[in-house]
Formats: sequence, structure tokens, C-alpha cells
Amino acid sequence: MSALEIFSPAKLNLFLAVTGRRADGFHELVSVVAPVMWGDTLTVVVRVENRRPRAGRREVGGKGRSPREEFSLECDDPAVPRDGTNLVLRAAELFRAATGWDRGARFVLTKRIPMGAGLGGGSSNGAMALRALNRLAGELLAPAALADLAGRLGSDCALFLHSGPVVMRGRGERVEPLPESGAARLRGRRVLIFKPSFGVATPWAYGRLAESAPGSYLPAPEAEARLVAWLADGDAVAEKLLFNNMESVAFAKFIALPALLERLHERFGVTARMSGSGSACFALLNADSPVAEITAAIREAWGASALVVGAQLQ
Ligand code: C5P
Repeated sequence: MSALEIFSPAKLNLFLAVTGRRADGFHELVSVVAPVMWGDTLTVVVRVENRRPRAGRREVGGKGRSPREEFSLECDDPAVPRDGTNLVLRAAELFRAATGWDRGARFVLTKRIPMGAGLGGGSSNGAMALRALNRLAGELLAPAALADLAGRLGSDCALFLHSGPVVMRGRGERVEPLPESGAARLRGRRVLIFKPSFGVATPWAYGRLAESAPGSYLPAPEAEARLVAWLADGDAVAEKLLFNNMESVAFAKFIALPALLERLHERFGVTARMSGSGSACFALLNADSPVAEITAAIREAWGASALVVGAQLQ
């Protein structure tokens, strides 16, 4: 096998409790996250030719190779960085360093997940690059080693190696499947994802949260207790799980976010929350939810440029 097309889903944080700040500047969290059946497409083509260093080229990484030139990325969205800062290329370099796999690859990314949305687009792309390379390389890494690599790539990457709802802890790298009693209440649930034309930068959002500490954090025992209570109550619907204490900072600056969520609740009775550090939000839909009217209300509030997309939780 020398080429692979892989689906790179968006994620939604159904429950996001940032519980405190760590000595390394990152934040501890407890989060229930689900990938959705909507996202980007990543195609990976393994280079077949032998690589030979060209005369005069500065060699990086020893063995006469220039690894930066061996992985390339194309993307249909010009706003997406295509240099070594992109998580796809960082994933490829990490994979090579961890395995010694010495082939090159061409990545082609078809982007649908917007940046600055809290939908994990870049993290998903990076995690799927790891998965694709591992498959193309003949499964050099066992699942645990791949998950470890994903955790090193970014806080939100490891969750994408799961195909259903998970609980994320630590800075996001500790991931385990949500117990089935809870997962069954989430899986397949229809959602409407919507994002205004502006985004929120994740480091800014965490920075603001830290400035208003400790009141902005939910202590870890409380976060765990809420989760345990929801899991134990088999009658508690998905709506009862929804929580995000990063909303406080985003909502204070961008009042268009809470204004719309409140309106949707008042007019249609739907429960909607922000995902991650925003600015994307999502509403849980029911069989009889008036999707066309909800969509019209979103566009009325946020303008025609707002992204509105229907999806299902994986
Ligand atoms: O790990 P990732 O690159 O996604 O994180 C982006 C930024 O978000 C970090 O540099 C940090 O400022 C913040 N962050 C954090 N705590 C986390 C995850 C992210 O403070 N658990």
C-alpha cells in the first residue's frame, strides 16, 4: 500500500472542566469529548523514489538526509499553514523520529473544519497523519505507542485515535473511552455545529482563564463528581452533561455567542454550548427540532458568513 485517504473528524467537548493550571503553564482538565461524523479529508501518498541528498544542500538530521523536504503538504484552504508548524508535518517528523521509517510522503488536505473554532481540526489532522503513516508503514507502532506519540503532538490529538466518546484528563493526553452507560446516550446524537466568522485563539482563552483564577476553574473533585453523577443516572440525557467553563472568558469578550445560545434556548428549547475554547458552538437536536428555522435564526444573528453544519456524534 502506498496511498491512503483518511477521514479526519471534528470534535465537540460535551463536558469541559478546566480544573487548574500546572507548573508548565498548561491546564489540567476533565472533558468528555466526541468526534463527529463531519470533518476534513487527508490523503497520504508515500514517496517511492529513493532519496539522495543533492549537492550543496544543508543536511539535517544526519544520514545525509534533509527530512523537511521529504514531507510535503498541500491544502485547498490558503489560510492553513503548510510549513513545519502544521501538525500534519509535525506528526510526520515525530513518526519518523519514533520509528526510523525513512520514506517521504505527500499529504493532501481537504479542509472543512475551520481554525480557531474549538473543533480540534488541526489536532485531528495531526492524529490522522500519525494513523495513516503507521498503516502505510505496516503498523510499526502498537496502539499504545501511537497514542503516546499523539499526546506529545498536541493536547487534543490523542482523543482522535478513538472512534467514540472519550474522557480526556491531564492536559488532554490521558484518554479513555467513556463508559458504555454514558456513551450509549451520546453516540449517534444529531447536532448542529455553528461558528461565527471570527475565531478564538486557544492560548488567549487559557490565558484569560488563568487571569481570573481561581474562580474560573472547577476543582477536579467537583468535575469528577459531576461526571460520575451523570454516568450513574441512566435517565440523565445528554443535555444534562453539557458544561464548559471556558465559556466565561469567550462570552465576556464575544457577547454574540451567549446572546445567540440564549435565543436558541428561548425560541426552540434546544440546549446549546460552546465547544472547547470556541468560537464554534453546537446544539443538541431532537427528532422534531426545526433545523431550518434554527439555521435561519443563527444566520440572522451571526450573518450569512456563519458556518452551520449538521452532524452526528460518533
Ligand atoms: O497543546 P496545544 O498546542 O493544543 O495547546 C495550545 C495552547 O493552549 C497551549 O500553548 C496552551 O497555552 C493552551 N493549553 C493549555 N492547557 C491545555 C491545552 C492547551 O493551557 N490543557
